Order: sequence, then structure tokens, then C-alpha cells
Amino acid sequence: MNKEKEQELNRLNSEFSNKIKSPLLLTCKNIVPGTGKADADIMIIGEAPGQKEDELGEPFVGAAGKFLDQMLEAINLKRDDIYITNIVKCRPPDNRDPLPEEKEEFWPWLMAQIKLIEPKLIVTLGRHSLSSFVPKPIMSKVHGTILRKNIPALGKIRIYALYHPAAALYHGGMREILIKDFKKIPKIIKLIDQGEI
Ligand code: URA
Repeated sequence: MNKEKEQELNRLNSEFSNKIKSPLLLTCKNIVPGTGKADADIMIIGEAPGQKEDELGEPFVGAAGKFLDQMLEAINLKRDDIYITNIVKCRPPDNRDPLPEEKEEFWPWLMAQIKLIEPKLIVTLGRHSLSSFVPKPIMSKVHGTILRKNIPALGKIRIYALYHPAAALYHGGMREILIKDFKKIPKIIKLIDQGEI
């Protein structure tokens, strides 16, 4: 654990929590900045907090989060080994999809988090998360693949596109695909370390 980076990330999250301007602040109970390791190799990015996350101020603590925990456990990882956040850090009313302008409002915060954490791999969960990096993705085509993007604020990043656990939870086929894609993460990290991807 890198103490300095941890402090810096806490500072960054409270700075953005104080300065963020979004109409979602009027309806959400808590801002959900993210949790985990400040120097994580893997950063998981969901869409937006749901009801439970809004109540507790932590990402992925509801049903989708339990499923995520099971998939992490299957590859011998704990939440503390990675960083988990969302594109939008306040719950949209009634869990509706985040609006483009809401994604834009929270984008500089996410960019600052990625820049500080410097993950080897960004794992996007669902189309809303991925589409913030890649225009109009077709999930059935890109899931389980690594997309390399050059983001002006960040330079080159590697994105691993996955289905969203909330969507996969109740769809047998999608669930199996997500579990299978998720299990490839350790191999991908190994290939990155070996300079092969
Ligand atoms: N779904 C998300 O995209 N993010 C959460 O934090 C919880 C559910």
C-alpha cells in the first residue's frame, strides 16, 4: 500500500466532492467517490450508484456488488486489491440511466482518479461505462476484448470491456459470459507485465 498515494487520492476525492456541480446532488443522499487501493493495477468502473450505494456511500454494495465480489474471489482478489468507482458518482433518481451531461460533469473527477492511480487495466462494467471511453460500443462484439485508447488527459490506456453484473445477474447466458470474461483478468495482467499487450 502506497501511503502517499492513498492520502493524495483521499484529498482528491474530498476536493471533487466539495466542488462538484450536478443537479444529482439535490436528490442523492451520499456522493460515492470510490473505494479500494490507491495504487491498484486494476480499476473497475461501473455506471452510477444505485439505492444501496447511495445509502452507504460505497460503490457496488447491492446485489450486483455481491456478484462482483464472487467473481473477484474466483480470481483470488479482494476489494482492497483493486479500485472500484463509477462514471457518475451520485445516484440518478429511480436508478435511471445517467444522462450525457451528468457523465460530462463527473468526467474530470474520473480522469483525475485514473491519472493518480495509474492502473495497468481499466475494467468497464456495462455499456454506459464503456461508452464514456469508446463511442457507440456494441457490447456483444467487444465484451472480453482489450481496447487501447489514447485519452488526451491520460495518454494510452487499456480498457477491458465487460457486461454489467446487474444486467448479467438475471440473464443466464450473459452471466456465464461475464464470469468467463472476468476469469481472464489475471492472464491479461500477466501479459501486460510481460509487455505482450
Ligand atoms: N451499479 C453500478 O454501475 N455501480 C454501482 O456502484 C452499483 C451498481
